Amino acid sequence: MPTRVLLVGAGAIGAFYGSRLACAPNTAVSALCRSNYKAVKASGFKVTSPQYGESTFRPEHTFGTPDEARKAEVTWDYLLVATKALPDVSDDSTLLEGLVGPDTSIVLVQNGLGVEEPYRKRFPKACILSAVTIASAVQPSHGHINHNRWTRISVGPYLPHLDSGSAAAEASDEEAMQKNSRLVELLKAGGISDAEMYDHAGLQFVRWHKIAINAAMNPSSVLSGGTGNQEMSADPELSRHLLGVMNEVLETAPQVLGKPLPAKLATADRILNSTKKNSSGSKPSMQIDWEKGNRLELEVILGNPIRIARKKGLEMPRLQSMYALLKRAQEVRESAKESKL
Ligand SMILES: NC(=O)c1ccc[n+]([C@@H]2O[C@H](COP(=O)([O-])OP(=O)(O)OC[C@H]3O[C@@H](n4cnc5c(N)ncnc54)[C@H](OP(=O)(O)O)[C@@H]3O)[C@@H](O)[C@H]2O)c1
Repeated sequence: MPTRVLLVGAGAIGAFYGSRLACAPNTAVSALCRSNYKAVKASGFKVTSPQYGESTFRPEHTFGTPDEARKAEVTWDYLLVATKALPDVSDDSTLLEGLVGPDTSIVLVQNGLGVEEPYRKRFPKACILSAVTIASAVQPSHGHINHNRWTRISVGPYLPHLDSGSAAAEASDEEAMQKNSRLVELLKAGGISDAEMYDHAGLQFVRWHKIAINAAMNPSSVLSGGTGNQEMSADPELSRHLLGVMNEVLETAPQVLGKPLPAKLATADRILNSTKKNSSGSKPSMQIDWEKGNRLELEVILGNPIRIARKKGLEMPRLQSMYALLKRAQEVRESAKESKL
């Protein structure tokens, strides 16, 4: 029997990693699509990449709705969720109802903190794997995926009962580590040579570290009128602000997680210096979403880190200011849209 993977949210990131997993031996990848359903059903995904060249990835099954996926009665090994994480808009864990079997792992490939919780609440017995990627990809038209650069994905089991430090490991933890290790092997076999395996605590550090970058670059680009990453990092006042935000996150993370930041994770200065050198002209995804009039991943990139820190008695004033301003700006824009209807 092949390993069966279903992409839930087959956009830029989901379809990119799906196309690589489909190259692993004895692995069949299917897609639950939405607006790109017709294009993908007809011709699959055309994927271009500086690293892997041009290829067509045809999912084993292409579903247009969760109901269609449920009716297929497939036993899924991995449900790879790569929707945008918008808990203030929809609870995407409902998409998985009827698809999670006793051996199914839910893999969350999304930015932000706290993205695992809705899935843990809905499927308390399921194995949840949490994944952070630094890859850059877009879907410029339905079914066309442009992978731009980087491939690294870090994956670890989500085992929050271990956070207190005093709770004993559960029997299912070992099984989750095995499923995690199997997924990383499949990614490597599909050509993602820098896929990395972590334990629960290690992966949560990677999430916080990615938040340092996302919470600095994404909202600042929107609030500075669409300034790109390199331009922001070269501007004297903005670069001070970016460093301040990144340091706020990197100083809060060890206090929340109760351990020092692993030395291998880049410091704020190193991140800023490498952004200064990146001349690709790239803009953060939040700015691109703002330009398109889409909802922003504000809750998982700003709101949740602030709330998680607050529960430990810690404030994150730089994140809080940006969160308050952007949340209100988004509300104003949404009500303007509604009044036009
Ligand atoms: N793109 C990157 O370079 C990048 C890099 C690192 C991390 N990330 C993170 O990865 C996650 C995914 O980002 P992305 O850029 O891949 O987003 P994306 O291109 O917008 O893909 C999301 C996909 O999910 C689909 N979707 C949403 N709700 C659905 C539903 N109810 N049923 C079926 N499909 C649904 C969307 O369909 P519609 O088109 O119909 O909305 C879209 O195809 C985000 O958390 C993002 O922050 C992205």
